[in-house]
Amino acid sequence: MSDLKVSVVIPTYNERDNISALIEKLSLLFQSRGLQGEIIIVDDNSPDGTADEAEAHARRFPVRVLRRGQKSGLSSAVLSGFGIAGGEILGVMDADLSHDPEAVGALVEAVTSGRAEVSVGSRYVEGGGIRDWPALRRFMSWFAILLARPLTSVRDVTSGFFFLRKEVIEGVRLSDRGFKIGLEVMAKGRYGKIVEIPYTFTDRRKGSSKLKAGEVVDYLSQLMSLYGDRIIRVLQRKSRAR
Ligand code: GDD
Ligand code: MN
Repeated sequence: MSDLKVSVVIPTYNERDNISALIEKLSLLFQSRGLQGEIIIVDDNSPDGTADEAEAHARRFPVRVLRRGQKSGLSSAVLSGFGIAGGEILGVMDADLSHDPEAVGALVEAVTSGRAEVSVGSRYVEGGGIRDWPALRRFMSWFAILLARPLTSVRDVTSGFFFLRKEVIEGVRLSDRGFKIGLEVMAKGRYGKIVEIPYTFTDRRKGSSKLKAGEVVDYLSQLMSLYGDRIIRVLQRKSRAR
């Protein structure tokens, strides 16, 4: 139990066949944990009618749907969702049930208890894992994580499943390009402690992945910008020390 309100932002593009099950699972979890929760679906005008499907639940469940005109990317959708969120705790998860709703309780608790300001759903700590991913996708994920290794102590830096106190990102400029909004938060957010909570990522059963080659380019450019920021900060510190 906690008095803090939790806003879970879920970006969607063509997730009609997944969204209802997720809304129901999350709402039940809020209830069973005594959480004041809201679900914010950020839909980019999905041709399959995801937004209408989600809105149909608004009478029974704490759901709001933010409709955007066109497909503008995952990170950008998450930032739009944060913009209208009413909670002191903000969370992000995918719509396709890959991110286990069962793990949300522990992720929220890590932050409301004060144990950390950011909690990350992690495939790469003990107890976590990946189900049903082809070998190539596993390799790509491993390699992507390797490239970001020096930026944070977090093992699952490309996780798209995380919770935080809203102060962590207040006044912080986060890039809205690409998929990796979690990495932006981990690298630029203002927090003392971050914890990883294990969960098993399960490949989607319905619909198709939106991760395209373009996201790889976006990820590389995001990394360059984050490393650039780091280098500038180190140089500034050195010149001040002189
Ligand atoms: N609104 C909106 N606009 N939503 C989008 C867009 C977009 O342009 N692109 C993707 N989404 C939504 C999808 O509908 C889904 O809910 C979520 O973002 C993730 O998209 P997927 O296509 O399922 O991505 P993935 O499974 O390949 O990768 C995900 O999981 C990885 C492991 O945690 C992403 O979250 C990755 O960032 C993450 O590394
Ligand atoms: Mn997915």
